[in-house]
Amino acid sequence: MKKAAAAAAIRHVPDGCVVGVGSGSTSNFFIAELGAIQHRIRGAVASSEATARRLKNLGIAVLDLNSVEELPVYVDGADEVTRQLAMIKGGGGALTREKIVAAVARRFVCIADQFKLVDVLGKFPLPVEVVPMARAYVSRELVRLGGSPEMRKDFTTDNGNVILDVHKLSIRAPAELEGALNQIVGVVTNGLFARRAADVLLLGTERGVQTFER
Ligand code: A5P
Repeated sequence: MKKAAAAAAIRHVPDGCVVGVGSGSTSNFFIAELGAIQHRIRGAVASSEATARRLKNLGIAVLDLNSVEELPVYVDGADEVTRQLAMIKGGGGALTREKIVAAVARRFVCIADQFKLVDVLGKFPLPVEVVPMARAYVSRELVRLGGSPEMRKDFTTDNGNVILDVHKLSIRAPAELEGALNQIVGVVTNGLFARRAADVLLLGTERGVQTFER
């Protein structure tokens, strides 16, 4: 189902463009598909070091986001996604770079299998990237917001920070919570993608790939 969703995303990649590429197992299927049509694109911007390595291994040019003026499309997976196309991301820890690339892209195409579709976000623990010295302070603030943060063990992000995975949140107003979390000093990014939600969801299901659009 992940592979089918990834394959369907190829027709959202315009000829001659630079494409933003996400991280995780679903994105890895997309990278493989991109390898097959690499003569049609100028190159890619990677949302993680791991994705950059995979792209380069296939011979795809990896460009610095700062050198790119236009990013017509960003393709990435999600840990949870709603029918309104708000998402939780960051299960793989790449949320900050993913959010930056998503912010620049004109269109966000989310690729996922049917198990990622939810009515209410929050069963999947919400990843929050935090500057290490603020870990204890941010944890206390997250508890005040009703969450139960757990430090991700033996993990450092590509940006040198730690991740707190926040359990027990039932997120009925994702855009508001995303904003509130961003206000906590020491938080670099949180894994809610609601203010910049996906534009298209390609959902791999037992009955084929379903498309949801905003
Ligand atoms: C990486 O940090 C994440 O945001 C991934 O996009 C997300 O965890 C989905 O991963 P899978 O495609 O492996 O399920």
